[in-house]
Amino acid sequence: MHIPVLLKEVLTAFESLSIDVFFDGTLGAGGHAEAILMAHPEIKLYIGADQDETALALARERLSPWEDKLLLCHQNFSKIPEELKKKGIKPNAILLDIGVSSMQFDQGERGFSFRVDAPLDMRMDLTQEKTAADIVNHATQRELELIFRDLGEEQKWRRAAEAVVKGRPIATTFQLKEVLEKVLGKKRFGEKEPVTQIFQALRIATNRELEVLEEFLPQGIELLTPGGRMGIITFHSLEDRIVKDSFTLAASDKWNTSGYRGHFQDKTPEVLLISRKAIKPTDEETDLNPRARSAKLRVIEKI
Ligand SMILES: C[S@@+](CC[C@H](N)C(=O)[O-])C[C@H]1O[C@@H](n2cnc3c(N)ncnc32)[C@H](O)[C@@H]1O
Repeated sequence: MHIPVLLKEVLTAFESLSIDVFFDGTLGAGGHAEAILMAHPEIKLYIGADQDETALALARERLSPWEDKLLLCHQNFSKIPEELKKKGIKPNAILLDIGVSSMQFDQGERGFSFRVDAPLDMRMDLTQEKTAADIVNHATQRELELIFRDLGEEQKWRRAAEAVVKGRPIATTFQLKEVLEKVLGKKRFGEKEPVTQIFQALRIATNRELEVLEEFLPQGIELLTPGGRMGIITFHSLEDRIVKDSFTLAASDKWNTSGYRGHFQDKTPEVLLISRKAIKPTDEETDLNPRARSAKLRVIEKI
């Protein structure tokens, strides 16, 4: 079962609030949700979204004691603000814990893991058409280079993309791993699997993880009621950069109007930064749950 990351820190972020409506955009197995619902019996409506139906089914069962308060949506979190706006629902607490869950990795047939031979799928939302195999087999070499370099932060991005293009067609996780191992080498004892970053990059690209986060943040901030709080947990430096930039801009009393240095205009800050620096897991947490190692939490409060 998925262990919720930075759980204590998430509870602390919402501790001072009396919550009416909570929006959890990445419900997963409902680990954070369960703890939040226990800590905040005053919650009237808990909206939980996940683009993966298997996760929603698990969460529905786990959260059954609160079924009267639950509204579960099989939906990308980036689509929810518009729907809530139409319905006139305004949350005063929002949480995103983005990325992939342990359950998704453990379902080997879904193609997230290089440890199990399976079709190269990697879709969190199984109703989406484009799979990782589509990217691997149809992207240009340049597109693959950028995915491997920017989303995977893989040093051998150029050679990896060239090997993939030469190795096409590639249908399964093991085929991709074999092709990549020709340039990245095989795993050595005690080291991390060399294909890890390329698999991560393909997952992020398949699910458009950076794009949906960028779409969501300004809408999420707008949706929050004054005094409401939003916490975002990321696992990738590019995601954290997107959250940091969006929060910093929302908290600033100036904005750069033209992209040139010095071209600033005054604006009203929309939020306060509750955590100036990203909140990271303790050593105790990472010892118990190595998946938490790269987690970062940022929290803001709507003014
Ligand atoms: C790290 S898990 C969340 C775990 C959850 N907080 C818990 O404690 O059990 C991330 C979940 O978010 C979902 N997810 C990721 N990106 C999403 C998106 N853009 N829209 C909706 N769900 C998303 C994934 O399907 C996955 O189930």
